[in-house]
Amino acid sequence: MKRIPVIIFGVGGVGQALLRQIVDGRIPTATRNQIQFDVVAVADSQSLLWEPEGLSDEQLLAAIEAKHLDLPVNPEGCRQTRLTGERPSNLDIIDFAPAAELENAIVVDVTAQDSMEPILDSALSLNYGVVMANKKALAGPWATAQKYFNHLRIRCESTVGGGQPVIAALRNLLDTNDPIRQIEGQLSGTLGFICRQLDAGVAFSQAMAQAKAKGFTEPDPREDLGGLDVMRKVMILGRMAGWPLETADIQVESLYPETMADLSVPQFMRAATELDEAMRQRVEEAADEGKVLRYTAVLEEGRGTVGLKAVPAHSPLANLKYISFRSDRYNDEPLLIGGKGAGVEMTAAGVLGDMIDLVREM
Ligand SMILES: NC(=O)c1ccc[n+]([C@@H]2O[C@H](COP(=O)([O-])OP(=O)(O)OC[C@H]3O[C@@H](n4cnc5c(N)ncnc54)[C@H](OP(=O)(O)O)[C@@H]3O)[C@@H](O)[C@H]2O)c1
Repeated sequence: MKRIPVIIFGVGGVGQALLRQIVDGRIPTATRNQIQFDVVAVADSQSLLWEPEGLSDEQLLAAIEAKHLDLPVNPEGCRQTRLTGERPSNLDIIDFAPAAELENAIVVDVTAQDSMEPILDSALSLNYGVVMANKKALAGPWATAQKYFNHLRIRCESTVGGGQPVIAALRNLLDTNDPIRQIEGQLSGTLGFICRQLDAGVAFSQAMAQAKAKGFTEPDPREDLGGLDVMRKVMILGRMAGWPLETADIQVESLYPETMADLSVPQFMRAATELDEAMRQRVEEAADEGKVLRYTAVLEEGRGTVGLKAVPAHSPLANLKYISFRSDRYNDEPLLIGGKGAGVEMTAAGVLGDMIDLVREM
């Protein structure tokens, strides 16, 4: 049995689901893969649980419970961690691991933070593996992000497609010398929901309010409507495919105007009714041609667009969260990956799959 120390940054929706899947999956992971994941550190923004021998399942479940109650992951501050004083920095947390003689550890980034690069770099310099659901390090400037692509000790399946084997499929094409010519997809479940409401005649502002009420959007829906998250996803795929993309190479259509950028969330939700008429006209124009609007990302020859596109209403793609790859071999008919691909459980499962894959590699 391989015992693998695991350090987890982030205990939000995905982090909590991951902890539960590690606990619930102990027996299958041990029997099928001969792996035991010893979670040695769990950190949220305010606190840390640290136990170099591995936190017990009771401690991990208590951490989930604490987050459900909106408490820090370690409500007792650092007392349980055998540390004193304030929460150590994330870099310090990485340093604890070699100091505790932990080898072959895996560092998991399930935060939504910028600036995780130094932590990831430090982990890699210790020959640890890195798994991320957080897209930001992979979608930063190419000069800093380049080193994370095609790295043997990095896995990032859950950054795109919410846990569907999208990156695995892309790697397979690249490994078998099948160059990618085009990448296309509907990469946002939230925007997919809004588009389907538009099909049904719901006003744009209402569709957005419904998505927010169902918890599909970020607390500020502009983070979804701006298209940046979709841009990051397609940029990650494009960079993997071999294009050294920068943000300037991908044209992004925001679904709200710059003039609404500085409003508070409630002000924006009210002001969004001003966008309804223009959107209604676009929906109508598409419908006149037998089409529906879908928020789509397309990347070709190292350049791309992200935005609303009219697609035939009865094509399977109109009703699917999908990603397609057109390559030299998949030229007349692209390779299509489609399915649920959303939500914290699927995303966490993608992270867990990456952890197991890394152990095989190590
Ligand atoms: N949700 C999905 O379905 C989905 C799908 C694909 C990819 N992802 C990606 O997965 C990541 C996690 O998503 P999520 O929905 O779980 O996000 P979330 O609910 O916002 O959770 C983020 C977590 O990160 C913690 N955090 C913030 N700053 C930190 C720091 N400096 N050090 C350590 N932890 C820190 C937060 O701590 P506090 O609890 O103290 O605030 C929180 O626990 C994101 O990058 C997201 O884009 C999510």
